Amino acid sequence: MTTDIDATAARIHDALRSAPSSSPSHRALHAKGTVAEGRFTPTGELADMTSAAHLVDGSTPAVVRFSHPGADPGVSDAVPSARGVAVKLRTAQGTHDLVAVSSPAFLVRDGASFLELLAARSPDPATGAPDPGRMLAFVEAHPESLPAVQAAMGARVPASYASLSYNGLHTFFLVGPYGGRRPFRYSWVPVGGEHFLDAPAEGFDLATELADRLAGPPEAAFDLVVHLGTPDDPTGDPTAVWPERPVVVAGRLRLDRVAGDVEPIVFDPTNVTPGVELDPDDEILQLRRVAYGLSYGVRTSPSD
Ligand code: HEM
Repeated sequence: MTTDIDATAARIHDALRSAPSSSPSHRALHAKGTVAEGRFTPTGELADMTSAAHLVDGSTPAVVRFSHPGADPGVSDAVPSARGVAVKLRTAQGTHDLVAVSSPAFLVRDGASFLELLAARSPDPATGAPDPGRMLAFVEAHPESLPAVQAAMGARVPASYASLSYNGLHTFFLVGPYGGRRPFRYSWVPVGGEHFLDAPAEGFDLATELADRLAGPPEAAFDLVVHLGTPDDPTGDPTAVWPERPVVVAGRLRLDRVAGDVEPIVFDPTNVTPGVELDPDDEILQLRRVAYGLSYGVRTSPSD
């Protein structure tokens, strides 16, 4: 069966917007976040593998949004869960958005399963709370969701948005200056290592922590770590964790300051430049493009 991407993304977006905590003036997911600015400087290690100039030399200004993944813009930062990062590189060849989360895998590999998941997680009308039995039934029917579910169950509170690794999860392709097409995945790895809090203080706030950090040491910087795949590695499936693969540090992202007035801004993981290609078999990636546009449309429409 071929999925109708526009219709399925619209159904998913509607389901997300129906959450009681969702706000039309915010993103349908990752509603709470904070934005910083900095620069991305490549190491040159990818020179033979991609014709994307910004991944090879020079340096590019970056707009970077960190977020809590949920629909609730008022969620407490003391809630353990994954976190997200979205990096926008505006280059002479076009915009490259690298949008990642701290989980090792995504929960589903197609839109129909995502709709099932949202239904399984929605509150039971009788109790007002999610029914653990329905979630268990979902995982039994979708064993591919296990790596993401296990990671969610073990999630901790990051000490800083700058002390967490984030993973792109999808497979992309590097296309070289002399031809050659090689699958890759990427991670943003914090230069100062990962740090978590066991007992966050009352009122702990990650946006304040980031602003304080950017006002002086310690720094906020990430390495763009590229995992070089083989033709046998799974494509089209962000639930599939890749085996250990050779890694290359493609560059470093340094954050300098809290961003000025950059909203409204949308980060679309299908924004790539020549030298980087999308995985044509990845339904989730196609759904994201449409769903992010719908969410952007709602949050930028004037309210009545
Ligand atoms: C079908 C699957 C998915 C759907 C429907 C979905 C939906 C959404 C929506 C509606 C937004 C808000 C967009 C906006 O208003 O700008 C969003 C934001 C975001 N999503 Fe997804 N998402 C999906 C998969 C993923 C995956 C696989 C990742 C990680 C690799 C991810 C990471 C993020 C991040 C980091 C943001 C925040 C972007 C920002 O700061 O503006 N999402 N998602």
